[in-house]
Amino acid sequence: NDLQFEDRFHRKFYYLRLSVTDVCNFKCTYCLPDGYKPTEKKKPSFLTLNEIERVTRAFAECGTSKVRITGGEPSLRRDYTDIIRIVAAQPGITKVATTTNGYRMEKNVKEWREAGLTHINVSVDSLDPKMFYQITGENMFHKVMSGIDAAFDAGFEQVKINTVLLKNQNSQELPKFLAWIKTRPIQLRFIELMQTGEMDLLFQKHHVSGVSIRNHLIANGWLLKINGKNDGPAQVFCHPDYMGEIGLIMPYEKDFCQSCNRLRVSAKGKLHLCLFGDHGVELRDLLSADEQRTELISRIQGGLKEKAVSHFLDAGNTGMTPNLASIGG
Ligand code: GTP
Ligand code: 5AD
Ligand code: SF4
Repeated sequence: NDLQFEDRFHRKFYYLRLSVTDVCNFKCTYCLPDGYKPTEKKKPSFLTLNEIERVTRAFAECGTSKVRITGGEPSLRRDYTDIIRIVAAQPGITKVATTTNGYRMEKNVKEWREAGLTHINVSVDSLDPKMFYQITGENMFHKVMSGIDAAFDAGFEQVKINTVLLKNQNSQELPKFLAWIKTRPIQLRFIELMQTGEMDLLFQKHHVSGVSIRNHLIANGWLLKINGKNDGPAQVFCHPDYMGEIGLIMPYEKDFCQSCNRLRVSAKGKLHLCLFGDHGVELRDLLSADEQRTELISRIQGGLKEKAVSHFLDAGNTGMTPNLASIGG
């Protein structure tokens, strides 16, 4: 594919993270501690179904085979199922994934699957309902658990769980998490807390490296799996006695960015080359007609030339992303 998106460091991009809303109904301490606050007076206008179709088609033409629909909380959009259907219908897109807080899953996950959703990641920061509330600001633990059961009932073979590691909060729960995945086809990923612009103190207080978990796993017979080209940045471990797997996402590890395979489009149509610290390239003015596709693709190709080798190059770079909800994680 001559159009294949590729940067100056020969990284190829197969994976688009498409945010469809900034709005979230949870108040995770590390992300939106005061809940979602609109930045403008009028109702925010997020990408329409037509715009979503055009941007996805352009990416698919240029080698993208996996699209992850993110937010905010993507399932808060009333047309969320239609979004899944439209993304799934684009030629070349073989994986349609989403990352959700799980709030709407119990009710709707079957419908999403029928619309073409192939992979689902759910945030679960604690297996203790009280700690879950403390971290997310919502008493939804049991609802999210039922949602995960519903996903298996709907036919998903594996569900990925995201757990943000927080010192003195959930970092003691490893045994509980291991017991939970022993008999369930869950890939549980511990994510190191990432420092964002709105969150400094919390980072100082709660950041903990995933290395101690990795050491514990290796000492207990867990084996590192090889990553495929579409896979995320997690190091995944498996164990013969466990149906589930453990993943570690350690963005502060050396060489983390080397295998970057994804690009991001924000809910208002900006291309972001990195989770951290770029201002974004406006795409929305090229999403109003199908005839703009060639121009759209060249603008993305042009933007890609600016992608940095790693997010560690500029000190303080991470501060430019106010929180991960604003860019889709
Ligand atoms: P898979 O494709 O299923 O492996 O998922 P993923 O890890 O790409 O996506 P998910 O939305 O579940 O994200 C899990 C965590 O990884 C979130 O905290 C993301 O912000 C983080 N993450 C995803 N992509 C990147 C990245 O390119 N850089 C960094 N530093 N973190 C990332
Ligand atoms: N550091 C690490 N992970 C984060 N997430 C949101 N903000 C942060 C942060 N600052 C996680 C959410 C969700 C995923 C998309 O990103 O918990 O699982
Ligand atoms: Fe890629 Fe940026 Fe993520 Fe690093 S932080 S892996 S460069 S998107």
